[in-house]
Amino acid sequence: MRKYFVLFAICILITAQVSAQWSKEERERIGKLSKEDHQLMMHLLGITEIRPGPSGDPKAPNAANSDESKATKYASLPNPLTFDGGDPVTTAEQWEKRKLEIFEAFDREMYGRVPENVPAVTWEIQTVKDTLEGAYPVRVKELTGHVDNSGYPAIIVDIQMTLTTPRDLDSPVPVILEFGWNFPMRFRRNQPEGPTWKEQVLEKGWAYAILVPTSIQADNGAGLREGIIGLVNKGKPRKLDDWGALRAWAWGASRAMDYFETNPEIDETRVVIEGLSRYGKAAIVALAYEQRIAIGCIGSSGAGGAKLLRRIFGEQVENLAGSGEYHWFAPNFIKYAGPLTEQDLPVDAHELVALCAPRPIFISVGAPDVEGQWIDAKGMFLAGVHAGPVYELLGKKGLGVSAFPHQETALIDGEIAFRQHEGGHTVGPNWPTFLKYAERYFLK
Ligand code: GCU
Repeated sequence: MRKYFVLFAICILITAQVSAQWSKEERERIGKLSKEDHQLMMHLLGITEIRPGPSGDPKAPNAANSDESKATKYASLPNPLTFDGGDPVTTAEQWEKRKLEIFEAFDREMYGRVPENVPAVTWEIQTVKDTLEGAYPVRVKELTGHVDNSGYPAIIVDIQMTLTTPRDLDSPVPVILEFGWNFPMRFRRNQPEGPTWKEQVLEKGWAYAILVPTSIQADNGAGLREGIIGLVNKGKPRKLDDWGALRAWAWGASRAMDYFETNPEIDETRVVIEGLSRYGKAAIVALAYEQRIAIGCIGSSGAGGAKLLRRIFGEQVENLAGSGEYHWFAPNFIKYAGPLTEQDLPVDAHELVALCAPRPIFISVGAPDVEGQWIDAKGMFLAGVHAGPVYELLGKKGLGVSAFPHQETALIDGEIAFRQHEGGHTVGPNWPTFLKYAERYFLK
């Protein structure tokens, strides 16, 4: 119970920090518009009602399940290595075709489609500053990615990114691209002692970049007629298979890749995408869809990220489909909270992991007694397990085990990696392990 409450409190804290930027009136306006847009999408889907999600509050009568014996209602998962028509996938060539079917299902039913006519982005360096990050001399570039809005000048989209490189470089370096929060996190609980992740990255001589997702697309339903999604739709509501915020944020990561390709300081073949929580979801979506990204570090991504949606444990499809989170997905996804259920989804999270193959993916999560159970550590681990056969078909290694490991066991010998650290809702304590794993691929 206490564990659950801790995560519940963390989520409230994150939500509170996110919304602290706004006045009470603004929060009410966003809530109201999000509900209205959500209702409109339900109307277009022909749905009048959806099931409410379980609560993150353990005291609530409808508290989310945290009892492992009740988690597994499903008898089987969709098989990534079976074509929709039933034929088995037995070669790497066949997998390339099968991948298209899986992408299509995720596009149509879950994350939505990126429109074909998304306007171009022009990157501009706003400022360059030589400074120190801890003891490390660095060069910090503030960048803006201006999206061409000549097709609909009423909406302006300026993508914000900060790139920090070691100051004296003699060859192009790897970069960790993080989906980051654009306000200081006051919540620093359970951050490990010792060097920060940025210092650990600089210690290796690598660079890092912080991309601000909300400069691409707002993190609420009210903003769907603005941002990159609204710009392409010329301020109109979404179609049922239109992209949601997760794919919009991932699209932003692809534009960051375009920029890295033009910057001689960066080795665009050695880019890690990293994010936590909702941005962990964005990170795995970016890794799956953007083949130029080399490695993913997927932090506590939970439902809508690396967690199997068929598991009845922690956050559920009904939560994701509600008016507070549906904007992360295509409107079509709402229907899985009524009349359909998670069992009707044509795909599940192990297939999202499989779409990242053969590239390395590190699935990170915190300790249940600190982070809570909402994220469902085992559900993410199992998605890694069930993606294993696809990696193996491509000559790579999966997790190597199928039993859930003890906390702090680093499963990093294969391309699919997993580690549950001792801390809370952060990637923090996993950075040394992740960087050791990434180094295996990046050291030349
Ligand atoms: C909520 C939400 C999660 C999400 C988290 C976060 O808890 O239910 O899906 O990952 O917020 O982003 O902090």
